[in-house]
Amino acid sequence: MRLEEDGPRVVLLDQRRLPDEEVDLVCHTAADVAEAIRTLAVRGAPAIGIAAAYGLALAALRGDDLGDAEQALAASRPTAVNLFWALEQLRADPTPERARALHRDEVERCKRMAAHAAELFAPGTRALTHCNAGGLATGGYGSAVGALRAAWERGLLASVLVGETRPLLQGARLTAWELEQAGIPHAVIADSAAASLMARGEIDLIVTGADRIAANGDTANKIGTYSLAVLARHHGIPLYVVAPTSTVDEATATGADIPIEERDGAEVTARFPARNPAFDVTPAALITAIVTEEGVRRL
Ligand code: MRU
Repeated sequence: MRLEEDGPRVVLLDQRRLPDEEVDLVCHTAADVAEAIRTLAVRGAPAIGIAAAYGLALAALRGDDLGDAEQALAASRPTAVNLFWALEQLRADPTPERARALHRDEVERCKRMAAHAAELFAPGTRALTHCNAGGLATGGYGSAVGALRAAWERGLLASVLVGETRPLLQGARLTAWELEQAGIPHAVIADSAAASLMARGEIDLIVTGADRIAANGDTANKIGTYSLAVLARHHGIPLYVVAPTSTVDEATATGADIPIEERDGAEVTARFPARNPAFDVTPAALITAIVTEEGVRRL
């Protein structure tokens, strides 16, 4: 993801086309960036924030109305707090340099939190992850996938089960692609296979990212995370949330206050009426620890 001042334009790797094709999407205006976020060409909480920062800097370079640009970007998706955080960070200084620094800092945070999270892995760990919280979702390196990378580099990770993540398959398309590139042994499972694999003792820990962490630790993440958390508690398996502090929303008291995006039912089935909540909230009581760049906070 980058901002090219000569143009000017924001260039994004179009995540909708992965893993089959690696195609760039070029955005000429902040409205184009907002549309790319809305339609999931760029997705994942930190990556959405970085894209929004570049979008605002793009509007400033073009001499567009910054209020309008910010409004369009803020309206693109409701749940990931990184979007609103990034826009606030850029408000006083909507320059390319500031946007690039925000991007660099997010990747740096990922590396630091991954190092903390790796301490939670024992030799031979068989992990399960959900959705995609990799380099694609964070502008580089990854939060939950960053933790898997760091654990792998330390020789602590045996293998990763990747929940396919219905309905849009971020796990089966994006996480599997990233793990393949990193050379980390992995297998995609149907989301509904998690319970029986836990019961068979094949999962030692679960690691996910987050879209918004409320002040009390309740955490919104991709739909299906809450089910995994309930299952993990039943089977005595730890669930770790790995996310940067830009995902922590102290202004939101509890998970009940987190806005949950409801997407088009056609993403679930085009044939019948459908419901499509894109995120769920895992209560803090079901989370073993939240890992940020600042360290491990046990709940
Ligand atoms: O709807 P998406 O694909 O943007 O949802 C992404 C997730 O839920 C990720 O797991 C989350 O953003 C963590 S990103 C590091």
